[in-house]
Amino acid sequence: MFLQQIPTGGDRNLAYLVADPTTRRAAVIDPSYAPERIADIADDAGLSVAYAFCTHDHHDHTNGNEAFARRTGVRPLLFGDIDPGTKLRVEDAATFSLGRLAVRILHTPGHTPDSICLHVGDAVFTGDTLFVGKVGGTDSTAAARAEYDALHRVLLSLPDDTRVFPGHDVGVAPASTIGRERRTNPFLLRPDFDRFVDLKRHWAAYKKEHGIT
Ligand SMILES: [Fe+2]
Repeated sequence: MFLQQIPTGGDRNLAYLVADPTTRRAAVIDPSYAPERIADIADDAGLSVAYAFCTHDHHDHTNGNEAFARRTGVRPLLFGDIDPGTKLRVEDAATFSLGRLAVRILHTPGHTPDSICLHVGDAVFTGDTLFVGKVGGTDSTAAARAEYDALHRVLLSLPDDTRVFPGHDVGVAPASTIGRERRTNPFLLRPDFDRFVDLKRHWAAYKKEHGIT
């Protein structure tokens, strides 16, 4: 499949363009700071944007939505939105066809209640739920509990060779795999929720101790 990771600015935000090379139908994820540039990249690659999605409703992921819709006619969809073309709602397990490929929505609340990950072929786009070697920030114990459940129940149920593409390049690399995160991500290695939350609380000290920047 066609897949391009596009650094857009902000806090090392990453957008994505993914497409079925046969039908040339594409989906865009988190166009945020670079809607025009991403539309240009799609045009240059001969791709037709069928859908756009935002992984959650934080400004650094949604600020390009108006410009993207003006330019392409495709309005980025968030969790709960209904796609005007297919009438499909963006909800857990919803599947948006790109020809031979499909975008499958995984509802992964925690960082925000509306956080989604998008599973396309052998790739998963994890927004601010999972970074390389880190996980998304949470603002309450209940949110951390939801995130812990989403990480283990949803993301870690994917095959180890699934490629992981996060919403920010804030980890040790801009991309990873589920297997690599399962084996090395210190948050995913915590044996239970209490120790997961404990690492969130003491992340600054842990990073210093382990030389993580
Ligand atoms: Fe966020």
